[in-house]
Amino acid sequence: MALVAATATASVSHAPVRYPPGAKAADTAVPLMGWNSWNLFGCNVNEHDVEAEADALVSSGLAARGYRTVTVDDCWFDPRRAPDGSLRADPQRFPHGMAALGRFLHARGLRFGIYESPNARTCAQFAGTYRGSTGSLGHETQDARTFASWGVDFLKYDWCATDSDPQRQVNAFARMRDALRATGRSIVYAINPNSDVAGAVPGPTVDWSPLANQVRTTNDVIPAWRTRLGRLGDQGIGEALEQAPAPTTPGVASDMDMLVVGFIGVSPAEARTQVAMWSMFGSPLIATNDITRMSTGISKLLGDPLLIAIDQDPSAPARRVGQAWVRRLSDGRLAVAFVDDSPRPVRLGATPSALGWTGPAPTVAGAWGSAAQTGVTWVGAELAPHDTAVFILS
Ligand code: GLA
Repeated sequence: MALVAATATASVSHAPVRYPPGAKAADTAVPLMGWNSWNLFGCNVNEHDVEAEADALVSSGLAARGYRTVTVDDCWFDPRRAPDGSLRADPQRFPHGMAALGRFLHARGLRFGIYESPNARTCAQFAGTYRGSTGSLGHETQDARTFASWGVDFLKYDWCATDSDPQRQVNAFARMRDALRATGRSIVYAINPNSDVAGAVPGPTVDWSPLANQVRTTNDVIPAWRTRLGRLGDQGIGEALEQAPAPTTPGVASDMDMLVVGFIGVSPAEARTQVAMWSMFGSPLIATNDITRMSTGISKLLGDPLLIAIDQDPSAPARRVGQAWVRRLSDGRLAVAFVDDSPRPVRLGATPSALGWTGPAPTVAGAWGSAAQTGVTWVGAELAPHDTAVFILS
């Protein structure tokens, strides 16, 4: 029986980095919840589709559950900057412009997220086929002001270069942090130091917390359990779990990448595992599936009140305790998860005391609607391959 490995730290060595002084771009509680355009639309993203997904977040009830930040990922922009150097929306796909999209989202109680890169080119320009060279390098102040003027509430700032010298990354991420701060608008700032770097992802090897509100720890997660590409490229849900984030500075979320639930290639058990474990680690919960036509099962899973409460709790992320992952919630309850990382059904469990519970035998409630039991002396479950069981001990 293979289980997810203990907290991983990559074996990258580098000189200690210096952090340019400065405050966070936004004083906002994270992890964020929302929806992102990339996995569904890629570079074909357009305002009509984004607005339809935003409306579906509201009508499905997911927005009320917290999925409120709607992010337009790569390729929203005209591949050429305006004559004054400013960014502008792609005129065909976003004919009404980004400020109009921001107004559309705000009118529905949603928040507006946008994507850029600290280098010369965004990921789709660097590694893909999108034309142009419209990264924010050298335009940080101008771009931050543009975003603020459009009503942007969240920026995903994606490295997208093979050069992963940590000091250069820290300086580049700090430049946009300070530019966002200087706009006076509260813009939640999420950085990804991992995209397209040569070699192991630097995410877990540097303390990025002085720079951003959320920090990507993984490479891109695709709709699969394992890809065998590991750290060097796209990875499955099971591989992302092997890089479970180390505890970070309180108030800074470790971003294990977007949810791939609702896509072909992810079984119902794997979908449960992704939402459950991303919640146990306090990762952002960013859906990327088609909200306008999702199944009831996926809608219920994304909106699961217990998992959302675990995710949004300000406590430290889950840590490994024997076969379990355990997170002590801020109200003293214990959230416990068992993951079957194997291709076979397994029975996993532990006594409450082995999980760190002290005092009389607890009351235990399970996720997915199972009834609470009192005086429990063993916590566990028979798990299907790649499935997860979550319990709350109180
Ligand atoms: C990188 C990021 C993805 C996505 C794409 C867009 O691969 O990790 O999340 O933003 O770029 O090109």
